[in-house]
Amino acid sequence: MRIFAPMNTERSHFSGLLLAWYAQNGRDLPWRQTRDPYRVWVSEIILQQTRVAQGYDYFLRFVERFPTVEALAGATEDEVLRLWQGLGYYSRARNLHKAARQVVEMGGFPTEYEGIRSLKGVGDYTAAAIASLAFGLPYAVVDGNVYRVLSRYFGIDVPIDSTEGRKLFAAMARELLDARRPADYNQAIMDFGALQCTPKSPDCMACPLTDTCQARAEGRVEQWPVKQHVTRVRDRYFTYVYVRCEGYALLQRRGSGDIWQGLYQPPLWETGRPMTLRELQEQVGTYGTLQLLRSHVVHQLTHQRLHAQFYLLDCLRRLPLEGVWVAEREVGNGYAVPRLVEELLACL
Ligand code: ADE
Repeated sequence: MRIFAPMNTERSHFSGLLLAWYAQNGRDLPWRQTRDPYRVWVSEIILQQTRVAQGYDYFLRFVERFPTVEALAGATEDEVLRLWQGLGYYSRARNLHKAARQVVEMGGFPTEYEGIRSLKGVGDYTAAAIASLAFGLPYAVVDGNVYRVLSRYFGIDVPIDSTEGRKLFAAMARELLDARRPADYNQAIMDFGALQCTPKSPDCMACPLTDTCQARAEGRVEQWPVKQHVTRVRDRYFTYVYVRCEGYALLQRRGSGDIWQGLYQPPLWETGRPMTLRELQEQVGTYGTLQLLRSHVVHQLTHQRLHAQFYLLDCLRRLPLEGVWVAEREVGNGYAVPRLVEELLACL
């Protein structure tokens, strides 16, 4: 591993090639046609854990429904989650909504890095993105693309999930930023990571940086970036019961401290291993007949693998459980539900 101390020529070589690549290959995306900080912010929050192809339509719908930060601040959390349905990482939406209220209270969108960084849900990455893209300020973004491109090109073995790694890559990104064109530079390196220097099987033959790329020289392209921790995945067992009674269904709003806070779902039993029909009958069997809709549904999240089964319970009287009884035709419309619950609803 080398100590990172690029010479000026090396730095401008890297940045120059990147910007030239971007001029040819950069994507024409709706949030790039504006410097409106609100739109830039919404797009960056959507794109944090979502690929551009998936985020595109969500972005357009979101800014159509909430064209200004005031419109977003005036919405209810349920409305915002409803629009976010299917995108995942719902705390992004809840924070966006809270931050919109912060912005309105501040009297307008902050125009400097510190103010932007103080908004709920805005971390170093998002603050740098908004500062550079909306206001032309010289802040370098560091996201997964940047880690990949820099670790490969400069041959950096320091793990990206270590304190040392985070500091090192942030310093490198700052050093390499073309401060005259921070918006172009930041988008160039992100697009380059997303389209050219891809995680798997990058097309190095067609890469303009290939001659001076350390990973390429060592034939170790796919070994970078280095991570020190493997992500451990937890298995969870969910039994959902869609409870129906005279045209109404029971929905419960998920509380805090777990996935999907603020979203709605039919009653759920979570067990340490798959729940048997007999166990379920003991819970609800006297209220009506249970019918299995689907079993062995696997829903993968970043750190959790959910094993789900879906039942239908047709009741003659309402179960004394907490929640709201919703006219069945509204279940799929007025209430934000996780993808997994959408799958259940599709079985009915
Ligand atoms: N990923 C997240 N934000 C991005 C942006 N502004 N350009 C390209 N990729 C991105």
